[in-house]
Amino acid sequence: MKILVTAGPTREHLDPVRFLSNRSTGKMGFAVAAAAVAAGHEAVLVAGPVSLDTPEGVRRIDVVSARDMLAAVESELSEADVLVMCAAVADWRPKTEAALKLKKGTMAPVLELEPNPDILRTIAPRKGGRIFVGFAAETGDPVPEAARKLAAKGLDMVVANDVSAPDSGFAVDTNRVTFVRPGGRRTYLPLLTKAEVAARLVAAVEEIAARSQPK
Ligand code: C5P
Repeated sequence: MKILVTAGPTREHLDPVRFLSNRSTGKMGFAVAAAAVAAGHEAVLVAGPVSLDTPEGVRRIDVVSARDMLAAVESELSEADVLVMCAAVADWRPKTEAALKLKKGTMAPVLELEPNPDILRTIAPRKGGRIFVGFAAETGDPVPEAARKLAAKGLDMVVANDVSAPDSGFAVDTNRVTFVRPGGRRTYLPLLTKAEVAARLVAAVEEIAARSQPK
């Protein structure tokens, strides 16, 4: 299969040197792309700004903002059988982006924001028989919120991820996740390395593909 994976944060600039972003480091998404290749699939990685080496055999497209990421996903989607949206896409961006660095003295004390497009919702009409996997990074029990997102975004699986535990979520090499599938199916995984979580995720996608129609 051809697996399109997004990873990392996005950056939403207010001027050339300042931006809004989040704590995502891209580790989980890079691990998914590596696991896809290891399992004999083709992987394309759309990466926000991260400092990670491209896994062997993976084609990588670097992006900065949510809108860049949406454009890259839109252009790669027709070739893909699977989309894994690992990226922590910034929900909001500054309403205006200055071409030159803003001077401290001229900056307003309140930053005006506008919403970014939701990538999964925007491309939902093009899903067809493709398998779409999302992530739900939550502080506290992530499973109820993951189940809500599964339905709201029309996904085949959501990886529920508690990002408040020190050994799970952003910037660490381990993760504790639950796979949430339609029909109330849940797979609770123990604390694993992100490489192990990624291998389980790819296996779950293979299982979904085996039971569904081609795109
Ligand atoms: O609604 P929430 O942002 O928590 O949903 C998380 C899932 O949606 C993740 O898979 C994330 O990559 C995706 N997402 C998106 N576009 C956004 C925000 C999140 O596709 N603007």
